[in-house]
Amino acid sequence: MKRVAILVSGGGSNMVRLVESMTGDHPARAVLVGSNDPQAGGLVKAAEMGIETFAVDHRPFKGDRPAFEAALREKIDAAQPDILCLAGFMRILTAGFIQAYEGRMLNIHPSLLPKYKGLHTHARALEAGDQWHGCTVHEVTAELDDGPILGQARVPVEPGDTPETLAARVLTMEHLLYPAVLRRFAAGDRSRLDL
Ligand code: GRF
Repeated sequence: MKRVAILVSGGGSNMVRLVESMTGDHPARAVLVGSNDPQAGGLVKAAEMGIETFAVDHRPFKGDRPAFEAALREKIDAAQPDILCLAGFMRILTAGFIQAYEGRMLNIHPSLLPKYKGLHTHARALEAGDQWHGCTVHEVTAELDDGPILGQARVPVEPGDTPETLAARVLTMEHLLYPAVLRRFAAGDRSRLDL
């Protein structure tokens, strides 16, 4: 059975879907949920689901990333996870941290990578007049939002869409894509999934 740790920064809706999916004959189980924000709603939800949680607040580190990441790694490694999932985790990680989990760290990004790396993906897709948008699950490498793609899900851009309405449509697909990809990844299947 693979052990999965999940990092969140906000409400954690993707984290909830991942945890809920890891039951029955699933090859993995969630063992830890952590956050860089002690007030993150995702920590409350994880605790309600009986998952061990922790918070390492990045603010007192005043931009000292290596020190922040060392504290983060101490908490994560204590749970000995086989897989680390970033689910709405909004801190940019250094190459040193990524190297420690390379090949076993996943992230979900709200665009059809390689389009729209970084922030404000929904507004940028609308500004560009795209007809299709979506989300991507990828392995995390040192280059931001650039690692091998494990899965994508597309949604149509509808007339009158705002970044908010588009984000909501994409989030619905995120909740299907991430659990599906994690199940395959935990079973050793790195082939790409398109929903
Ligand atoms: C998601 O849209 C995810 O793709 C992005 O941040 C959002 C987090 O949502 N990185 P939640 O915290 O999982 O609800």
